[in-house]
Amino acid sequence: MKTAIALGLICAAGIAAAKEGVQNPAVKARMDAMQVIKTHTGVIADMTAGKTAFDSARAAEAAAALAATAATIPALFEAEEEDPASEARDEIWMMPEDFNAKAEALYKAALAIDASSLDAMRPSMATVGGACKACHDDYRM
Ligand code: HEC
Repeated sequence: MKTAIALGLICAAGIAAAKEGVQNPAVKARMDAMQVIKTHTGVIADMTAGKTAFDSARAAEAAAALAATAATIPALFEAEEEDPASEARDEIWMMPEDFNAKAEALYKAALAIDASSLDAMRPSMATVGGACKACHDDYRM
């Protein structure tokens, strides 16, 4: 249940932060990827929170899509692109190895999601939520 609450907070923060009028297409692309990540995470989080019925196939699909999108993070953030609406911190480009390691941690956490049952899925989603938080704490305003 703690996981569901933590993920709920992450999702709520994401909604509040969703930006209109981003000028730089490269910044828009990385924000869009984060929104996609949020959507897939939300599909699974809603199941672990009991908001939607557990559906193993749908959860596995969301986990695979989450992993695939997580794998695009390093390339999306490789160049130091700026926009007034961006919440990315300069530290991303000062410590790219650490940033990319945190992206990799999310990728691995997504691959490790066990969608075979709700009980199996809960702890693996806690790891995913931790991976979002670890990166946002250091690299997102
Ligand atoms: C490797 C680092 C990293 C990981 C892992 C990560 N994020 Fe992000 N996220 C960022 C950064 C940096 C931004 C700010 C991007 C910007 O504004 O330019 C961001 C922004 C966001 C946004 C706001 C996008 C917008 O429209 O402005 C959402 C929502 C989001 N992340 C959700 C998530 C979720 C959910 C997870 C985990 C499943 C996650 N992120 C994992 C780095 C990360």
